[in-house]
Amino acid sequence: MAAAREARANAYAPYSNFLVGAAVLAGDRVFTGVNVENASYPIGVCAERMAIGAAVTAGEREISAIAVVGSSREPTPPCGGCRQFIFEFGPDVVVVAETDDGRRANWRIADLLPDAFGPSHLER
Ligand code: THU
Repeated sequence: MAAAREARANAYAPYSNFLVGAAVLAGDRVFTGVNVENASYPIGVCAERMAIGAAVTAGEREISAIAVVGSSREPTPPCGGCRQFIFEFGPDVVVVAETDDGRRANWRIADLLPDAFGPSHLER
């Protein structure tokens, strides 16, 4: 949670001004990401995907949890695309979101994305 909060300060969100930091826990290692927006709005990337990309780039394949610190009054849950991205690493990944005043929400990714399409569906 602390790593996600610290990373958020580096978010690049000049269009929405909605800063998000994320941190992935993989084994005992933590990888962070921030949202990176773009003048071509639709190609901006969410903090969660950036953090997962950092973990995968470092060779990690097993993710146990992801922390998200957004800028909402309420804990910021991952967007639909990020739910799919997180689900790739298994139904039991824990997602924890925290507000600036320390209120938390946590979910299991399979509960955020019921009946998800996942790696097993590619088995024919
Ligand atoms: N955003 C994230 O990075 N993660 C979320 O979970 C929700 C939304 C970003 C995308 C965009 O840069 C900004 O927040 C506003 O939608």
